Amino acid sequence: MSEGSLNVKPTGITNFDKILGGGLPAGWFIALRGGAGVGKTTLAIQFLLEGILKYHDPGLLVTFNEPLPALNAIMRNYGWDLQGLQDMGELSVLDFSSTEMGIMQQASRLREASLDYVTQKIIDEVRRLGVNRLVIDPLNTFSLLFRDLFEVRKELHRVIGILWQEKCTTLAVYENTDDAVTDVQNPQFSTEDFLSYGVINLQYMLVNSSRERAIEILKMRGMNHSKRVHPFAITTKGIDIKVDKPIDFSKR
Ligand SMILES: Nc1ncnc2c1ncn2[C@@H]1O[C@H](COP(=O)(O)OP(=O)(O)OP(=O)(O)O)[C@@H](O)[C@H]1O
Ligand SMILES: [Mg+2]
Repeated sequence: MSEGSLNVKPTGITNFDKILGGGLPAGWFIALRGGAGVGKTTLAIQFLLEGILKYHDPGLLVTFNEPLPALNAIMRNYGWDLQGLQDMGELSVLDFSSTEMGIMQQASRLREASLDYVTQKIIDEVRRLGVNRLVIDPLNTFSLLFRDLFEVRKELHRVIGILWQEKCTTLAVYENTDDAVTDVQNPQFSTEDFLSYGVINLQYMLVNSSRERAIEILKMRGMNHSKRVHPFAITTKGIDIKVDKPIDFSKR
């Protein structure tokens, strides 16, 4: 499959599109990995907002960790009005962080019950709104609902197939809890990485006695993406990826 036949669409985040090789193919499921506080949620939500504001792509945010009111308050610091977009019907949020999670837990001494509940709710919402951009933050919690790795793989494969049919481009946030996973020299991979069409790695590295954020496209099937590790900053406007300034690894 050539890049020309992939229906690549810009994300709307300028330098993100540059390092991706133009944008993300419609309907692809992409793993967005990184350690604590590196900027996963900020990048993922910016992807949703740019979609809504620049391309009228209806967005869906599935949040497992951060309750929506807390998330709203933090995002207002960037000038992002999640509530307003929800009120206008352009953004939908499934908040499994508090009450819904309680319902799931009750429903699921049988784990399958909660599994069907979560998966079906996401798919129903994607179809109901014609969602083009989906964020699942984080995917780890979703995987915890499954009995074993085979179940994770089977269900994820099924969901990825449905999202592709629905042309719903997905950023699935994945929390790296093991230092080895974020090792820039020798990254380790998980089942989700192999199932995903692409893998984006965010890192928070020690460079010259201070922490520097970096983004790397580790995998993007069929795309001529950047092979470099790019520094990025979080500013009052969100994620700011530098395409020209290299990271000096000799200072690590
Ligand atoms: N206005 C700002 N200017 C600079 N940096 C900021 C600003 N607001 C937030 N940050 C940085 O963003 C970080 C949090 O980003 P974010 O929540 O996107 O990370 P995350 O990877 O999703 O974290 P978690 O592991 O908790 O889910 C903060 O720890 C802080 O370093
Ligand atoms: Mg987060």
